[in-house]
Amino acid sequence: MNTPVKALIDRLAAGHILDRGELITLLEQRNPEAADYLFEKARAVRHAVYGRDVYLRGLIEFTSYCKNDCYYCGIRRSNHKAQRYRLTREEILQCCAQGYDLGFRTFVLQGGEDPFFTDEKVVEIVRSIKQAHPDCAVTLSIGERSRESYRMFRKAGADRYLLRHETASADHYAKLHPPALTLEKRKGCLRDLKELGFQVGCGFMVGSPYQTNEHLVSDLLFLQELEPHMVGIGPFIPHSETPFAGESAGALELTLYLLGIIRLILPEVLLPATTALGTIHPTGREAGILAGANVVMPNLSPTAVRSKYLLYDNKICTGDEAAECRMCLGGRMNRIGYELAISRGDYPSLSKDCQS
Ligand code: 5AD
Ligand code: FES
Repeated sequence: MNTPVKALIDRLAAGHILDRGELITLLEQRNPEAADYLFEKARAVRHAVYGRDVYLRGLIEFTSYCKNDCYYCGIRRSNHKAQRYRLTREEILQCCAQGYDLGFRTFVLQGGEDPFFTDEKVVEIVRSIKQAHPDCAVTLSIGERSRESYRMFRKAGADRYLLRHETASADHYAKLHPPALTLEKRKGCLRDLKELGFQVGCGFMVGSPYQTNEHLVSDLLFLQELEPHMVGIGPFIPHSETPFAGESAGALELTLYLLGIIRLILPEVLLPATTALGTIHPTGREAGILAGANVVMPNLSPTAVRSKYLLYDNKICTGDEAAECRMCLGGRMNRIGYELAISRGDYPSLSKDCQS
């Protein structure tokens, strides 16, 4: 095996921090043998922290309206062909009730940046879910808001917040977003969320247009610095009605390799095998788990709206009922020696501020 890469993997696995040059080598000199070695180490860490449990998150895509215009995203405001919908509070609560019966103990409310859902409305939804399911965690994934808004959500009982940083390089960020969105603002939001005691998730797309290994290394260094509780990564997949329609998708192989590295950099991190990973390969999510991931996020949205929340083309499970996905994923995990856990699946060493 290429010994410099193996030595770097060993150092990471032993808890050492790698510098930019070393991370570049780890990416540039990777090969299939090194990847297998990395995955073995990543699984060992994952088994020591989480055993063979896979945590379940029920994703509720509650609004497909978005005021932003990210160049990669299928629900960007300029996509006039996108079908827009909003779920009512009652519909959201029905999704949660159904999810609860299926063993879900975390609900992720995800949507575009939709001003219709004012802070007050979000607070009311979070409160209602926590009241109906006090043993469940509520995760918000609704984009950039003010620190004051985030404070209100936390006070209402929201436990976690997902806000992918998308890329930690300002030049690359500007190639993926219109000027109204900036990396500085995004980082500020993540800092606020952490300070307010949320379990925080950041993340990025793999193989997004213009991305280089240097950018990916900046992403890894950013993770080292922020120390998020969760990291969501998945391959970029083009959407036909966006400026990036003609770009190629990110690779399975590189996504898996990065999952393995992230598991070693942040041993306790909650790391999903994402729907995008399952979209670019029929057993992508299984491969993600075997590379060190420990979370899956099946869809709990009503079937009537599923095919309207398309961030990218060919998204899987848009025709399936929540129960079907739960069963399907249970089987998929069992076949590779893992088990879906009926638990909130919190970050193991939470500071006092993050406990609810
Ligand atoms: N391909 C893959 N992932 C995407 N996302 C948005 N559009 C795409 C796409 N075309 C991801 C972004 C966002 C998350 C909700 O979905 O990283 O933060
Ligand atoms: Fe939805 Fe397999 S996870 S059908």
